[in-house]
Amino acid sequence: MPDLHSSLRRVRAALEDAGYTVAGVRELLGPVAGGALARDEIVPAVRATGGGSPLEALTRLFWLQVPVGAAALKGTADDLVAAGLAEASGGELRARLHVEPLESVTGDGHAGYAVSDLKVRPGSGAGPAADHVVGAGGASGNLARLVIHKPVDNVLDLGTGCGVQAVHLADASVRPRPARITATDVSPRALRLAAMSFALSGVDGVELLDGPLLEPVRERRFDLIVSNPPFVVAPSGRRFTYRESGLPGDEFCRRLVAEAPAHLTDGGHLQLLANWLHVDGTPWDERVGAWAEGSGCDAWIVQRDVQDPAEYAELWLRDSCETGTPEYRSRYGEWLDHFERLGITGIGFGWITLRKSGAARPAIRVEELRHAVEQPVGAYVDDVLNGFAAAREFSTVCGQVTLGAAAGITQEQIGPPGAEDPERIVLRQSGRLMRAAGIGTVEAALAGVCDGDIPLEPLLDAIAQLTDMDPGAVRAHATAVLPELIADGFFEVPRPD
Ligand SMILES: C[S@@+](CC[C@H](N)C(=O)[O-])C[C@H]1O[C@@H](n2cnc3c(N)ncnc32)[C@H](O)[C@@H]1O
Repeated sequence: MPDLHSSLRRVRAALEDAGYTVAGVRELLGPVAGGALARDEIVPAVRATGGGSPLEALTRLFWLQVPVGAAALKGTADDLVAAGLAEASGGELRARLHVEPLESVTGDGHAGYAVSDLKVRPGSGAGPAADHVVGAGGASGNLARLVIHKPVDNVLDLGTGCGVQAVHLADASVRPRPARITATDVSPRALRLAAMSFALSGVDGVELLDGPLLEPVRERRFDLIVSNPPFVVAPSGRRFTYRESGLPGDEFCRRLVAEAPAHLTDGGHLQLLANWLHVDGTPWDERVGAWAEGSGCDAWIVQRDVQDPAEYAELWLRDSCETGTPEYRSRYGEWLDHFERLGITGIGFGWITLRKSGAARPAIRVEELRHAVEQPVGAYVDDVLNGFAAAREFSTVCGQVTLGAAAGITQEQIGPPGAEDPERIVLRQSGRLMRAAGIGTVEAALAGVCDGDIPLEPLLDAIAQLTDMDPGAVRAHATAVLPELIADGFFEVPRPD
């Protein structure tokens, strides 16, 4: 009987030799079958993978979860079975686990593999088990793309599940592989599958620890903590470990934000996805912003979506394949009762990034960004935080500072055709957060001339002269409006090297 590690090593080689990567499968399926699969329809994909090549067989076996003839994978079948990834009977192989290739967050390379429980498809008659280990989904990708690209030595993936975040953290095409990667979970099954993901991805030496929240890493500090936590706000107890923590409401995410900063090195980052409650009578941004107060960290909290209680209940009942089951109505009702009792009017979905700045007055920005932004955000998230910190300092040092207009901004002038002056001037970012801001003539003139070298004060005086305005009024106006434009990334304060 081959040992598990040797089997996984050979399986890894076979997966890579076959070209079982996201790009390989995408090309094999083409847009129509790929599109149907995104809607959970596998028929076109089954038809597109009938040629019998190893890539077609692996795609059918693991991606589509349909049996394949063992002959198509004859060199690998024994190892797939020995590793517990597949079972053989009657000359056929069936997947026992889901093996999913992961694309690099930059979209141009292969990061590794995630091993998880088989996908539970709607209408299959069975929902997920209580200890179901979920694969790399849309949320996993969102977090992986948010994570900073800066080199880090010592990282923690809290609630690792199938290990997808740790595999991305080790992707040397994004940043040098961290010297130490720690992954935690409360589910022993998740820890076992994560270990298989790491073996299939060639990521050695990951430390796997069992335990809730930050308990397994007491007294330890990390340069980066990432977590796609069990954030689902559910009516009672914990039914599914992969999505519910058992803590009430959004308490898990609040505690993570409150407690993780003590585990960060100076300058270290905490990045997580979260759900938060909109409670009747309390502005959501004040409530969630308060989580980061007293953390000693600059914080960027972004609401990407909001659902009303009914949409939220339907989403998670669909996720656990309970739509249309006999219990559906009563569970739906429980969810709504729960939200009504707590005065919950909606649930926000978003990103949280904290950076341990040690500043006496940390910069905390809570905002809603519902539109598409440039990906991966991790490539520029530190610049976003730098903008908030620079804006916080700006008001006190306005005169001495130099400013540069950020790269990739354009100016739009809107008004009736032929009019001498525009009714509105808009600065727009063509990349990154794709923000737009309505501005006045002073800021427009400044955006045209500031280059990061000439101090702001003479520039403002020149603008006052050109526009026939009082220099004091121009400076006061700049002091009032520039911090927001710096925080939003339209202007940059050059940082000392
Ligand atoms: C949504 S899954 C995330 C899996 C994976 N990291 C990803 O990005 O897709 C949440 C994970 O948190 C784990 N978990 C649940 N309760 C936890 C707790 N109290 N402390 C730490 N992890 C927990 C679950 O077992 C699950 O693996």
